[in-house]
Amino acid sequence: MLSKFEKRAEEILSKMSLKEKIGQLNQLETPVAQNLEQVKEKVRQGLVGSILMCVGATAGNDEQGAIDVNFYNELQRIAVEESPSGIPMIFGRDVIHGHRTVFPIPLAMTASFNTDLIEKSYECIAREAANESVHWTFTPMLDMCRDPRWGRIIEGTGEDPFVGAKVAEAIVKGLQGDDVSKSDRMLSCAKHYIGYGASEGGRDYHRAEISDYSLHNNYLPAFRSAIKAGAKTVMSSFNDINGQPVTSSKYYLTDILRGQLGFDGFVVSDFNAVIQLMRQGVAKTVADCCLLALNAGLDMDMQDNCYIDNLEELVKNGSIDIKVVDEAVKRILKVKLYKGLFENPYCNHIEMDRTKHLEAAYEMASESMVLLKNDNGVLPLKKDAKIALAGPFTYEQRSLLGSWTIDGKAEETEHFYSALKNASKGEIWATSFGGLNWDSTGKAMDWADVIVLALGESWSATGESRAVSDISISENQKDLIRKAKATGKKVVGVFFCGRPIAMQGIAENLDAVIYAWHSGSMTAKAACDILYGDVVPSGKMPVTVPRLATHIPLYYNVTSSGRPVNCYYGENPGACYVDSIPTPYYPFGYGLSYTEFEYENPKAIKEELSLNDLKAGESFKISVCVKNTGNYDGKETVQLYIHDPVASMMRPLRELKAFEKTEILKGEAKNIEFSLGFDDLGYYLSNGEYVVEKGEIEVYIGSNCLAEKMIVLKIS
Ligand code: BGC
Repeated sequence: MLSKFEKRAEEILSKMSLKEKIGQLNQLETPVAQNLEQVKEKVRQGLVGSILMCVGATAGNDEQGAIDVNFYNELQRIAVEESPSGIPMIFGRDVIHGHRTVFPIPLAMTASFNTDLIEKSYECIAREAANESVHWTFTPMLDMCRDPRWGRIIEGTGEDPFVGAKVAEAIVKGLQGDDVSKSDRMLSCAKHYIGYGASEGGRDYHRAEISDYSLHNNYLPAFRSAIKAGAKTVMSSFNDINGQPVTSSKYYLTDILRGQLGFDGFVVSDFNAVIQLMRQGVAKTVADCCLLALNAGLDMDMQDNCYIDNLEELVKNGSIDIKVVDEAVKRILKVKLYKGLFENPYCNHIEMDRTKHLEAAYEMASESMVLLKNDNGVLPLKKDAKIALAGPFTYEQRSLLGSWTIDGKAEETEHFYSALKNASKGEIWATSFGGLNWDSTGKAMDWADVIVLALGESWSATGESRAVSDISISENQKDLIRKAKATGKKVVGVFFCGRPIAMQGIAENLDAVIYAWHSGSMTAKAACDILYGDVVPSGKMPVTVPRLATHIPLYYNVTSSGRPVNCYYGENPGACYVDSIPTPYYPFGYGLSYTEFEYENPKAIKEELSLNDLKAGESFKISVCVKNTGNYDGKETVQLYIHDPVASMMRPLRELKAFEKTEILKGEAKNIEFSLGFDDLGYYLSNGEYVVEKGEIEVYIGSNCLAEKMIVLKIS
């Protein structure tokens, strides 16, 4: 698609000096008061292709300044009117899950299994950020992750490559729309390519070991999908894979990304990652870092001034071929042309109605929350119930927004107590931490009809460089739960978390569990509306909830083993560890509703198709009838998994291949139809070749990954 800009990019390139060309490959750190004049001068000389509108790595965890639109317009004016070739700059910022209006963290949005809503959310996000000079956001984050100790799991889509691919497509489309050059759209950046989510032990920035078989089947699908949906920039990841830093890997950045995935945009490094090649032990000098990264296919250097300080000399002394520089510059120019920056370099005011964005954030938050437990229908609560509310998240505001919130404001975020008070028609007694003031808390609990505990983890325990070794809540929260349970009253836990927590010893002491996540600006209202049944919960876990942190990694799409010790599906669980049973506490795809759904009458129009039919575009048409047999209208995510029991390579015991979220009114029965074709029934070999093999395919359909086997298909 970028090829239509080739000619114009070449014309621009032909008039540029070497210095200016290198300038295009340079992304400058955020201008701050101390260096404003220097920055302007660099822009004037054509030494800056892009500006990173964030201060410091781990921007999501550091306090950031607000954007001054006039300042960025003035910088752009200098680039366009005073620099030698007048090439506009591209401004990038980490707008990860919201701008001023904050939507749920991406892991929570994924839990909605509602890709239309995710797309709509990112449309609002793009509008708000584009209105403040941001052309380009470093999202979606597509690092498949099977280790919730990793703080960055909250930025991604969880443990499943298929869901990852669907969400990737929704985010890219939401941000870019049909025409990214419109002023209310932003360029997306698929990151972190590749394998960052496999950091050993969940420790941030650590090494990863990933076989090519796993790379193609687990880690690449989301990137393949983002690229297909129109992502024209990719950020390389900090980590190494099998001893090769991605930053300097021609294999990953060129052979696979461009050669196999067909990516035609540009690659930006992660923050300071080029010079980090020295620490990673593959380069001795900064110049070596440049040589390695640029030759590998890394086009834009984020923030570390490595290219701008070294490339000129490297070209002049013949170490680097000018053609490599030209190619990188052309890729960047083409993306700038694609974004329409040459026609429309400045930020103009965009008309928008922020209340609509808040409504969208509320809808997204409501669909993201997951009801994990509801014994004896304790929920929904009656509006006039007398509630004793305790726990550290009662008055918490900042954490509800989640990590990577640069422009959202904690003080504008309603806390849980306030939302509960607004929604309730009964009396509420509240304290931010019951354990510290047990006398009055205990009395209030005795007085109340029901105890609600606002629990969770701080936003600052999640995100970049925020790994934890124990995915749990604090000991005093566990103590509070035990004390509440001891009162003999019904106890409801509302969890404001970024990652799944190990539930053993926690959920047993609660009658109901709502997983409310860090769901952004509208977290508190959405959680309360679920509590009272104004919203019927419909989220599903996009990650397995383990019993204990020591059971990690624990993920649903595991392969079988020769000896029967695969406990996920209940096969000989006692044989895994002698001291504990590592079955999931809540499996992937799990989530309850206030109503009940029954699955019946699964059918495939044809149960056998030949490989040639499939190659020619035929597909298996499968349907199942889902009945709402409960007392509420509700939304169900119908999930279809497959298993290939005999293949040339071992295949996962379950692989999600389709899902549909649909509203089913009480008493209604809906026929849900799926289609499985050539692209759904195969897998990738280690060399990246996609194969569909003859034989049987088992199909499981249900409301989570422990679904029943319903149909067996045959490929002849
Ligand atoms: C993070 C990226 C982010 C970049 C710019 C890095 O530290 O890994 O995800 O986009 O900083 O803020």
